[in-house]
Amino acid sequence: MKKKVKNNVFWVGKVDWELRKFHGNEYSTHKGSSYNSYLIQEEKTVLIDTVWTPFAEEFVENLSKEIDLDKIDYIVANHGEVDHSGALPALMKRIPGKPIYCTENAVKSLKGQYHEDWNFQVVKTGDKLDIGNGKELVFVEMRMLHWPDSMATYLTKDNILFSNDAFGQHYANEELFNDLVDQCDLFNESIKYYANILTPFSHILRKKLDEVISLGLPIDIIATSHGVVWRENPMQIVEKYSQWANDYQENQITVIYDTMWNGTKLLAEKIAEGIRLADPDVVVKVFSLAKSDDNDLITEVFKSKTVVMGSPTMSNSILHSVAGFIHLMKEMRFKGKKAAAFGCYGWSGESVKVINELMADAGFEVINEGYRNQWNPDGDSQNAAVDFGKKIAMA
Ligand code: FEO
Repeated sequence: MKKKVKNNVFWVGKVDWELRKFHGNEYSTHKGSSYNSYLIQEEKTVLIDTVWTPFAEEFVENLSKEIDLDKIDYIVANHGEVDHSGALPALMKRIPGKPIYCTENAVKSLKGQYHEDWNFQVVKTGDKLDIGNGKELVFVEMRMLHWPDSMATYLTKDNILFSNDAFGQHYANEELFNDLVDQCDLFNESIKYYANILTPFSHILRKKLDEVISLGLPIDIIATSHGVVWRENPMQIVEKYSQWANDYQENQITVIYDTMWNGTKLLAEKIAEGIRLADPDVVVKVFSLAKSDDNDLITEVFKSKTVVMGSPTMSNSILHSVAGFIHLMKEMRFKGKKAAAFGCYGWSGESVKVINELMADAGFEVINEGYRNQWNPDGDSQNAAVDFGKKIAMA
């Protein structure tokens, strides 16, 4: 069922309450998601984006109940990824030949995925499309936010920015608008989304935010492609993105470890104790990799000024969970964060050295040689771990 966004603009997307993993298995969606598609019914009728492939038939069926599909004049594909373009094949079977406005790169991604030669109309930043009643669509390329084909579309007079992935959240809700949902949920899902999806492109985002602001377009509503429509103080999320894109960190130190027989776990707790003793103001958090969600942990790393990584030595190296998580952190291209390593060992004890090398390679400043302990930590070793935590807090 369509929902009114403003005047003749309607939401016609899909709320996916059951989604628990997105991007294959790469992103946890504890609160589901939505694929927001919008219908603009002025003198011309415009469809902006569609929904993910599994909901294609349902989407086209529902849309055909709201409007005679032949009345659609223009389709805008802000982005070619399947969660927004997935219903295009089903839709274009019903209305072949209708023009699809998208970037040059989106032609490549749409052709590459669907192998169809639809009526593509390539647009670039500043191009306009008259939709009647004195209103225009203005296109803004959003290259690498987060795909090379990404684009935003601005509707004049109603002052709505259809931002696609930018400013979104994986957050299923029926209320649609930002002022109607739980504000803690909204913030947590927004920062998790930024941390896990947009951090690698922060340097591009900084420039793009300046460019969009310099266009001087009044923005009353930001209509994203996932989660809420920002209608109450929509610039609040733009301001958050400005902060997050500038090598964001809070006064937080996060200890992350995996363990085999709980020796490294004990060190983690003692290190956290030392950090807390040396700096009562710093937020200290301790996470077991085996018991935590990777994407939630990335959000904690995003907020951290220092990450303390621990692994026991296993086969002259580290546990694969720790190696995998450091790889994930490397993909995020975090800047300006410090790191330290620790771990227990029985025989050779290479884990700390390996973590130091991997963390440096992942872009972290490794602040010391790390702390390693042979066998199960006794009283002296536990005290040494507390002292190691104090050193990290002071670094
Ligand atoms: Fe929501 Fe990049 O797709």
